Amino acid sequence: MKKLLLLSFLLLLVAIFAAACGGSTSASDTNDAVAAGKALFMQKTIGTNPGCASCHSLEPDKVIVGPSLAGIAPDAAGEAKDAGISTEEMLRQMITDPNAEIAGGFQPDIMPQDWGTQLTETQLNNIIAFLMTLK
Ligand code: HEC
Repeated sequence: MKKLLLLSFLLLLVAIFAAACGGSTSASDTNDAVAAGKALFMQKTIGTNPGCASCHSLEPDKVIVGPSLAGIAPDAAGEAKDAGISTEEMLRQMITDPNAEIAGGFQPDIMPQDWGTQLTETQLNNIIAFLMTLK
């Protein structure tokens, strides 16, 4: 009987510990999101669309079809400040509504316009987490 009590106590401790860890977004959750976002970005295709990396390089100034995304985080941060929204929100708009603002020297309607439906909410958040690391 004592053993059973001890066991329940231990299980309770484990449960409390797990709850405490799951409460907020930990650094390792963010790292997971960045890694998943990067892997998705590098995919040759995503659904029926070409993948991001087929049009966007991560090397500064290297144009494939669209602009290089090296340094996109500070760029988006600047635009976000002007628009009064968060940097993540600005990146989301750049991805899901690319014609809202056309990057200098590029044409509209080349980037797929339907990422909002091609990507799940989690995939979109992961890609945004990855883009936030491109400083
Ligand atoms: C078929 C080519 C193509 C694909 C695929 C593509 N893009 Fe683009 N993207 C473009 C072009 C062209 C532009 C520039 C015109 C514009 O601003 O809409 C652009 C613009 C952007 C911008 C804004 C850049 C800036 O400096 O303002 C971001 C951010 C971006 N794309 C992210 C992505 C992500 C993330 C994916 C994958 C989910 C993706 N793109 C897939 C062609 C593409």
